[in-house]
Amino acid sequence: MAVGIFDSGLGGLTVLNAAQKRLPDVDFLYYADSAHAPYGVRDAEDIYNLTRAAVQGLWDRGCNLVILACNTASAAALRRMQEAGVPEGKRVLGVFVPLIEALTERQWGDNSPPREVEVQHVALFATPATVSSRAFQRELAFRAIGVDVEAQACGGVVDAIEDGDMILAEALVRGHVDALKRKMPEPQAAILGCTHYPLMAETFQQALGPHVKVYSQGDLVAESLADYLQRHPNMLGEGAGGYLTTGKPGVVTDRATQFLRRKTTFEAT
Ligand code: DGL
Repeated sequence: MAVGIFDSGLGGLTVLNAAQKRLPDVDFLYYADSAHAPYGVRDAEDIYNLTRAAVQGLWDRGCNLVILACNTASAAALRRMQEAGVPEGKRVLGVFVPLIEALTERQWGDNSPPREVEVQHVALFATPATVSSRAFQRELAFRAIGVDVEAQACGGVVDAIEDGDMILAEALVRGHVDALKRKMPEPQAAILGCTHYPLMAETFQQALGPHVKVYSQGDLVAESLADYLQRHPNMLGEGAGGYLTTGKPGVVTDRATQFLRRKTTFEAT
């Protein structure tokens, strides 16, 4: 019985890791579309087609529920996929809502009208496609009023992480934080709006300073998944867990093992 977790590459492992810790009895089937990463520089049509094919692959392997552990896919493809209709008994969910509910101090699924919240100046770090979609601001506007969001499109960071070049990734993150601070000198909170970025969480926190609360998605998504599965146990699906990639399994295995600090063996899709 496996839940599907999808990302363009390795970033979704930050969500998978948290989900495995929170739900040790659940199997997960992870799908990295490494051959087409990064998604963040693609247009919305392209992201939609790639995401739909990958999610279909996970459904076909017995997953009933697929989590898009990718903000770029959540921003560009999720709503369109849900509106186009999903096969009976299948679901696809994104990673934005748990994060925004945490930021706006809401309980899961609290759909009451938007209200004023504590935080007023928020920095959003995300891929170019996520930033240009404005999906984060749209979801936030359903829940909060008066929040000023400054977004920074973090070009190059996902490529550097996928290449295992953490020195370059660090330099790029510092540059993007500086650029953000020129637009918003004193953010109260920062959203790591790409699942790759928690791998650089320390660098973000150092560059932002200790007074900025940095939000990552791993634990928040894991907690809301646990709640969802309790309410929908039939969504556990069939089939075995594992790790799939459209890229080179050996390379992806090495990088994933490095990030998760445990042997993580990928197979070809
Ligand atoms: N982890 C993906 C996200 O959360 C990265 C997207 C990309 O491939 O650029 O947006």
